[in-house]
Amino acid sequence: MHARHVVLACALLAVAACANTANKPAPAAPPAPAAARDDSLYRALGAQAGIEKVVDAALVEIHNDPHIDLFFANTDMPDLRRLLVEQFCAATGGPCEYTGRSMEEAHGGLNLTDEDFDRFVADLVRAFDKAAVPKDLQQQLLALFGPMRPQIVGQ
Ligand code: HEM
Repeated sequence: MHARHVVLACALLAVAACANTANKPAPAAPPAPAAARDDSLYRALGAQAGIEKVVDAALVEIHNDPHIDLFFANTDMPDLRRLLVEQFCAATGGPCEYTGRSMEEAHGGLNLTDEDFDRFVADLVRAFDKAAVPKDLQQQLLALFGPMRPQIVGQ
């Protein structure tokens, strides 16, 4: 091959390589580094041990509320505890993955009303008070779970 042809071939290859790069989809964004996750609420609640304490307090209040406790008559409570800990941990920015069902699925067939939901929230607030969760953190928690009402009520 003449030198001129080699140069031409190289130039063509370079164009092809360039075109190829241009057609490639943008590379996937790298996973967010752990530091980018806002885990301030998780940490303020006392991380894993704090979350477990809050969930345990909630389960006590639920159990002590006959109207709400009835809904859990057939529920595997250790499993529910595990799922609530995962959910609270994940929702507050902790290093957990929620592995339970969607809120629609989990509450499907229960026909929960707004009154049930409000009463459940009141039980939660009593539990947060007993677990000495500061009010500003309680508000942050309720702001995470309040919007789930439409997925839970009337399913
Ligand atoms: C923001 C409010 C609520 C949250 C975050 C929540 C969260 C959860 C979670 C994570 C589960 C487990 C999901 C699974 O089994 O895969 C669950 C199940 C359940 N929830 Fe809720 N829940 C809420 C409100 C309520 C209310 C108001 C009631 C009743 C008054 C209720 C009754 C139940 C019952 C009975 C189950 C167990 C269902 C079963 O055993 O199959 N939940 N909930």
